[in-house]
Amino acid sequence: MIPINAPQIGEEEIEAVVKVMKSGVLTHGLGAGPMVTKFEKKFAEFVKAKHAIAVNTGTSALHLAIAGMGIKRGHEVILPSFTFVATAEVIAIVGAKPVFVDIDAETYNISPEEIEKAITKKTKVIMPVDLYGLPADMQPIRENTDKHGLRIIEDSCQAHGASYKGKPPGAFADAACWSFYASKNMTTGEGGMITTNDNELAEKMRFMRSHGEKEKYESLMLGHNYRMPEIQAAIGCIQLKKLPKFSAKRRENAKRLSAKLRKAENLQLPKEPRGYKHSWYLYTVRLKDAKRKKRDRTVEKLRQKGIGTEVYYVNPIHLMPYYRKFGKYKLQETEKAAKQVFSLPVHPGVTAKQIDFIGESVLHDIM
Ligand SMILES: Cc1ncc(COP(=O)(O)O)c(C=O)c1O
Repeated sequence: MIPINAPQIGEEEIEAVVKVMKSGVLTHGLGAGPMVTKFEKKFAEFVKAKHAIAVNTGTSALHLAIAGMGIKRGHEVILPSFTFVATAEVIAIVGAKPVFVDIDAETYNISPEEIEKAITKKTKVIMPVDLYGLPADMQPIRENTDKHGLRIIEDSCQAHGASYKGKPPGAFADAACWSFYASKNMTTGEGGMITTNDNELAEKMRFMRSHGEKEKYESLMLGHNYRMPEIQAAIGCIQLKKLPKFSAKRRENAKRLSAKLRKAENLQLPKEPRGYKHSWYLYTVRLKDAKRKKRDRTVEKLRQKGIGTEVYYVNPIHLMPYYRKFGKYKLQETEKAAKQVFSLPVHPGVTAKQIDFIGESVLHDIM
């Protein structure tokens, strides 16, 4: 099976892990060990942010950002429903209400016009997601939030190496959250990061990462243990160095696959609008005018050929059993996309020959 994504781990990562193990420094009481500090510095430089705070998962990163902004019961947070559940989960965890809005049919990202319609007196934060690795349309979102005095948390968990109007994810947001889960463009196995230019928020999130402590046993606020272990940070430093190479290979694979699939009139290929740079975390196509059953049959046929085809996201969050209590929504584009999209492997481990095989198999199964 050609997996949809696969961690790209080499000798350098293995050596870095062994070195940390031999050093005996596996973690730090406040989450700021030497490797974590180095990784944070390098990552902040990479995304041109003032601060980077490393944590144990992308979900923890989102939770710290939202809790750090003081979001709580009585507040509303606007987000797309077409995303991984973690984006909504952290809103519910702090007791606030997730308010789901529809996506743009071409990019699958949150629609800035729909955000405007959903803003109420209770709205505090907008959470756009850079879905599949394509940045959300951040400029109009920023203009809108500034007008209303709101803040933005960008879920960039899939967007390492992407850019928007020449700037890395997070440039138009108050905070951006990243995941280093094993499937991501760069990985630490599990891991996360928050980047921000806000000094006060950064300091607060650093305390909250480790029990609200500035000094040990002096909790200043409610916190967690969201610390990133030293081994993970050591892997992260190497993966970050390799990221440009990984990104170039993903781009090359995506371009080759698009060239193959261009003749399929019933397929909507992934877009990279002018001014955007895709991270190609997921190469997602849409089987136009198809019902869910037809898409599912196509996915199954491709899997039988050994192509790790997946659907992100088969169930939009507003339709998940737990999240139905937050309101009845009719999100036309979201629900349509969930029935028609599927993703194909383009990760750096996929060869040109395999891309050709994937392209030919898709053409054969859909035409
Ligand atoms: C869009 C999105 N948000 C949040 C997350 C959560 O990250 P993690 O799995 O590291 O907790 C992920 C990754 O799985 C994601 O893809």
